[in-house]
Amino acid sequence: MGRITSFQTSYIFGFFLLLVFMASKNKVESQMEPPRPPHDEIQALHEIAAELGKKDWNFSENPCNNKSSWYTPPLPSNVPRPRVMKNSSVTCNCTLNGGQCHIYTIRLTEQDLSGVLPRSLAKLPYLKDIVLFRNFLSGTIPREWATMKLEFVSISQNRLSGPVPSYLGNIATLRVLSLEDNLFSGTIPPELGKLVNMEIFILNANYLTGELPTALANLVRMKEFRISSNNFTGKLPNIFQNWKQLQILEIQAGGFEGPIPSNLSLSNGLVEIRISDLHGEGSRFPNLENKKNLSRLMLRSCNISGPIPPYIWEMPLQTIDLSFNKLEGNFSGNEKALLTYLTSNLLTGPITEWINTRDSHYQIDLSYNNISSSLEPVPCTEHLNLFKSFSGSNNLGRQGNCLKNFPCSKDWYSVHINCGGGSTTIGGINYDGDEDLGGPAKYFPLRETWETSSTGHFWDTSVTSKDYIAQNVSILKMNNSELYTRARLSPLSLTYYIRCLANGSYTVKLHFAEIVIRDNSSFQSLGRRVFNVYIQEKLELKDFNIKNAAKVADTELIRSFKALVTDKTLSIRFHWAGKGTTSSPKRGVYGPLISAISVESDSKPQVSKEWNIKMKFVVGAVVSSLCLIVLILGILWRRGYFGGGKMSREQVLRGLDLQAGFFTLKQMKAAANNFHPANKIGEGGFGSVYKGVLLDGTIIAIKQLSTISRQGDREFLNELGMISGLQHPNLVRLYGCCIEGTNLLLVYEYMENNSLARALSDPNESQLKLDWPTRQKICLGIAKGLAFLHEESSLKIVHRDIKATNVLLDRDLNAKISDFGLAKFVEEENTHMSTAAAGTIGYMAPEYALWGYLTYKADVYSFGIVTLEIIAGKNNSKHRSKEGYVCLQDLALVLQQTGKLIELVDSRLGTEFNEEDAIRMIKVALLCSNSSPTLRPIMSEVVNMLEGRTLVPEVTMDPSIFRDEERFGVLREQLHQIHLNGFCPDAPSS
Ligand SMILES: *[C@@H]1O[C@H](CO)[C@@H](O)[C@H](O)[C@H]1NC(C)=O
Ligand SMILES: *[C@@H]1O[C@H](CO)[C@@H](O)[C@H](O)[C@H]1NC(C)=O
Repeated sequence: MGRITSFQTSYIFGFFLLLVFMASKNKVESQMEPPRPPHDEIQALHEIAAELGKKDWNFSENPCNNKSSWYTPPLPSNVPRPRVMKNSSVTCNCTLNGGQCHIYTIRLTEQDLSGVLPRSLAKLPYLKDIVLFRNFLSGTIPREWATMKLEFVSISQNRLSGPVPSYLGNIATLRVLSLEDNLFSGTIPPELGKLVNMEIFILNANYLTGELPTALANLVRMKEFRISSNNFTGKLPNIFQNWKQLQILEIQAGGFEGPIPSNLSLSNGLVEIRISDLHGEGSRFPNLENKKNLSRLMLRSCNISGPIPPYIWEMPLQTIDLSFNKLEGNFSGNEKALLTYLTSNLLTGPITEWINTRDSHYQIDLSYNNISSSLEPVPCTEHLNLFKSFSGSNNLGRQGNCLKNFPCSKDWYSVHINCGGGSTTIGGINYDGDEDLGGPAKYFPLRETWETSSTGHFWDTSVTSKDYIAQNVSILKMNNSELYTRARLSPLSLTYYIRCLANGSYTVKLHFAEIVIRDNSSFQSLGRRVFNVYIQEKLELKDFNIKNAAKVADTELIRSFKALVTDKTLSIRFHWAGKGTTSSPKRGVYGPLISAISVESDSKPQVSKEWNIKMKFVVGAVVSSLCLIVLILGILWRRGYFGGGKMSREQVLRGLDLQAGFFTLKQMKAAANNFHPANKIGEGGFGSVYKGVLLDGTIIAIKQLSTISRQGDREFLNELGMISGLQHPNLVRLYGCCIEGTNLLLVYEYMENNSLARALSDPNESQLKLDWPTRQKICLGIAKGLAFLHEESSLKIVHRDIKATNVLLDRDLNAKISDFGLAKFVEEENTHMSTAAAGTIGYMAPEYALWGYLTYKADVYSFGIVTLEIIAGKNNSKHRSKEGYVCLQDLALVLQQTGKLIELVDSRLGTEFNEEDAIRMIKVALLCSNSSPTLRPIMSEVVNMLEGRTLVPEVTMDPSIFRDEERFGVLREQLHQIHLNGFCPDAPSS
């Protein structure tokens, strides 16, 4: 007994102590600073900061002290969470290892970090969580991470690219992985089937392809699996069947084909299923009978036919979306989810009393169905959309009593709508306002000439009626900005239905501007808004992306269409088919965005009651433009224009938006000493290049374009206007041009060290030492320049003529690419070949040289050759050794076979180079100059490889470009020929 009593006493005493300790815990914590993490980990944080581009970590403070700037406390749970939330937190765990503190989690979100995923993360052996979403990181997932014991990895909403690496499969501890909203491509490696602890796996909005590996079926702990908006192929797999813990399955526009497996998942814990936009074969309604917890169900655009099983209406569903299928049958009258979408099916009704008994919390969209009979009169409410719900010719009359106040007063010939905005007059045209708040099942029959039907809500975010109108986030500078400051959004389907029109043909103009997603170097620019537009139910714009089409944000883009009106009505429907991103820059940003609509008859002369207003405007406009013309003429006269008489280059040019300056011939002559031969610094593919000095002392290079095709003037000048806007540290900057008479001169920044070709070949260029680090820098510079041209710039151009003479070197031996955007304008007779391809032998990709098949990969090939030249310090085709190798590439391949790759390195370097780097660079060069364009990497991948962030795949020299041997057998033979003859050409005799 005594023992027990004493035990109890000490127990109670201990408990008391614990209480005291807990009561004073906060105090103790605030006074006691935890120890610093070990020196190695601090060092690793320095490296991580450099790799990420994180500049504001304060290393004078202790990262383990959560009172320091290293830690942002989470929001209290009773504070509403903003949709966008910057967070910068490092935490330590001080209980792991005898009181020693170790870095345990890193969260850096919404900071626009523009570096790469840090390799040095692997130097933090206790790190569990790495959260880097909403930044601007590029590159891919470092191999080093595979050695870590990470549990939580979120790197979504960045611009990471390349394949999903198979070595991720080694992080067996991984429980959460989100790669959402990035640029990952390629197939999902089956190795990920080893991640048996995985619970949340999110791959939405990438460019993934191929079939889902069956090995994923092993991930039996999966709770949440989202793979929407990708380019997978094949039938919707049934790997989810084994996942008995699955709660959320989201596959919207994954790329798959139907049917939906009838036993989708054995998990009875499913709370959300979202499948949409399946191609191919249709199916019946899948069996969901035991899913008693299902709260949100979407089976949209899945080609499902037959009836809706009655048990569905007994489930505790909050949201049900079965829209855009071929579902048949009656309503149950028991549709009791808060949001019900049965839009665009073949349901036949009837609509009976039940519709009047539901209260206004319930929204139901029955638009686009085949209802044959109904209650009369059909109610007209905010929460019931019956647009085009009825079959037969009586459709208009059946749209309920909503329309009865709007009979057509006359035939209309034009309608203009400022979608999402107020009414306004622009250029004498009145645009109707369209400011009604939206809703998930909303029909707005508020005017005589047009009405709208809006279906859907934005998922994964709280819905308010204001979310259906977008507001500009920056000041808009375009003309007519009233049309663009607000625009109507649609989460699924939005129809503008124009009525009372005179029959005949019409021009429909759709005005777009991307006013939400940005185009700066920020996560705000990462979103991809992709949608479809139907006019008179014909698909006119598919996978349309306003920002891509307009090249920039906040810029007006007008698309024009012809439409035929035969029954006095015209429908314009915007549809979101699940593609693009849904959470950049914040969750719920997706779906069609329309700024304004103009519909004008092609036939009737436009005389209207607004004639007076119009006339006033026209008179005003004429007077003011006359003034302007006189002014311009005066200026031009003084500048000595008007020599020719007919439409001259200057006149063409004035119409262009050249982002660079114009120079006069007089200025050019003065700068280049009247084009004295002593000023000549080179002879390019287009003509001579002169050095010149402008009056302000700027040194310039003047390129005379003698070989530009005259036919292409207009096109050429257009192109010039666009390329003058391209700026990158590895592109030669175009300052401007000079166009007078027959003279066409381009003015570039002057490059002190001439061209790479000269630096590599000229033995007299003794002052130029291309040591190994310089060669690496040059190579990386070219790669970055090309990656910009191909992948990042607004123009996306293939250079076509990458070679050592087109790579110029500035004072500090930085490489800059020249002549981009020009190669396609070279006159045919002036090319180095008899084919139509514009390029240079020895650098030209075989598929381009042979078939004129031109893609970005042609530049990648040429880059590979230039890289070989940089390594070897020799010209590819001039190289011909005693052993009889025809070109450098040939030599490199042989050296590779014999395992002596390192011998390729320029003997002038002696031993002054890093062997590992050299081998990597040679491997990259060989990979790039592979004869198969498909096997060549894209330039951003090349940059990653050169920087050692990703491994260089082993090269396989496959002479067959295409796998389909039958079809391309002949071409392969030709390729073989060029492999032997063409691509290692005879050295020029000079
Ligand atoms: C520290 O690590 C241990 C073991 O992983 C874990 O159980 C504990 O919750 C961690 N403590 C903190 C404060 O994160
Ligand atoms: C997806 O695949 C289709 C067909 O193979 C192709 O046309 C489309 O360009 C691909 N989309 C992307 C984003 O890769």
